Amino acid sequence: MTFADADAPGRNRDDAFWMPFTAMRQYRRKPMNFVSADAMHYETDDGRRILDGMAGLWCVNAGHGQPRITQSIRDMAGQLDFVSSFRMSHPGAAAMAQALTALAPVGLDHAFFVSSGSEAVDSALKIARAYHQARGEGRRVKLIGRAKGYHGMGWGGLSVSGIGRHKRDFGPLLGEVAHLPLPYDATMAFSDGQPRHGADYAQALEQIVAVNDAGTIAAVIVEPVTGSGGVYPPPHGYLDALRAICDRHGILLIFDEVITGFGRLGASFAAQAYGVLPDLLTCAKGMTNGAVPMGAVLARDTVFDAFMAGPPDAIELLHGYTYSAHPLACAAGLATIAVHDEFGLNARAARLEPLWRQTARGLRDAPHVADIRTAGILAGIDLTPRSGASGARGNDCAQACFEAGMLIRNAGDTLLLSPPLVLDKADIERLFKTIHDILNRLD
Ligand SMILES: Cc1ncc(COP(=O)(O)O)c(C=O)c1O
Repeated sequence: MTFADADAPGRNRDDAFWMPFTAMRQYRRKPMNFVSADAMHYETDDGRRILDGMAGLWCVNAGHGQPRITQSIRDMAGQLDFVSSFRMSHPGAAAMAQALTALAPVGLDHAFFVSSGSEAVDSALKIARAYHQARGEGRRVKLIGRAKGYHGMGWGGLSVSGIGRHKRDFGPLLGEVAHLPLPYDATMAFSDGQPRHGADYAQALEQIVAVNDAGTIAAVIVEPVTGSGGVYPPPHGYLDALRAICDRHGILLIFDEVITGFGRLGASFAAQAYGVLPDLLTCAKGMTNGAVPMGAVLARDTVFDAFMAGPPDAIELLHGYTYSAHPLACAAGLATIAVHDEFGLNARAARLEPLWRQTARGLRDAPHVADIRTAGILAGIDLTPRSGASGARGNDCAQACFEAGMLIRNAGDTLLLSPPLVLDKADIERLFKTIHDILNRLD
């Protein structure tokens, strides 16, 4: 094709951009186009300021257009556009790995870089299997996910996902998979943060072990707080119990922290907030403040060392991506970590969390509200579905929020909120008051 062909009939179509996770024909009737962003706000192409209640897509934790991050990306683009990480490197890669592992819980001391949460999850699942293979336990191939878990759109992540409709059109997926139940039930509705009971849900792992034979199971992967599946914080003691059962049976525990990482729960990672150390941890999104695609798998020594025991000249892990440790991503990541430190974003999130939780709970008396869950600066609000039209009320509420100048998401009839951590009291009040006002008039 030449550039002249761009003007040929049939080119310049408004459906040239095949959009992800979007009802495109509906979208084109009501487009939502953003042209700039700053701190807590987006600006639309028709000049409206929109309060960002989602940190973009759970990623812009330090606020939009953060000057230090933007400048670092600019500088690196002018200095070093690309270096492969296959048999070569650049100073930013080692610096980012060191800065990231310094943030992580003690014990997670190795970082494998990728370019997204999906790649991080698929990499972690492959590392888990290869770890057992390296130790002579190659029968351990089964992967255990959990109901409502979201682990991205790679084949591995989709296979362990606990959201059935995401898998519907793409089978067959990995066969060697089982799922834990969501550790949540109606008795926990309106829990103030973590449900007090429910640790027993972890015993479901013992049942899976019993019917599968522990020696065939490679890993369990969970989001410490189920994120896009609806924001479900773990019951007190649940993650500890999972950890203990994994230890008992030689199963690796993977925390998918693509949403919970980078300050969202008032600590760098949920592993620290809940005091439970996984064997592998995946992160992405907030690690570059969303400004350049990047993800990582963090690994414990016990895992890493198993790979380093083979022949000294062999490639230890036959896995990687063209853009692993991309210089621009490393520059953005280093600046993001510096900004988190400079502005004390973990402490800020921890300080705001009680106000966030209480203000969210203020929706309890609003029409249609069936449950409210919060964890750190995350909220999930279940609305009762309209009869025969599951998801319609959630869609209408999210759309009405946008028309009122605020971006939130919905998963069916569950409203989801995850604003940048630079928000203040007035932002918190506006987010929940807007939803309250909309619910008062929504049928
Ligand atoms: C917990 C979790 N894991 C993995 C992913 C996939 O990340 P990405 O969309 O960057 O591939 C997401 C995305 O929302 C996520 O929330």
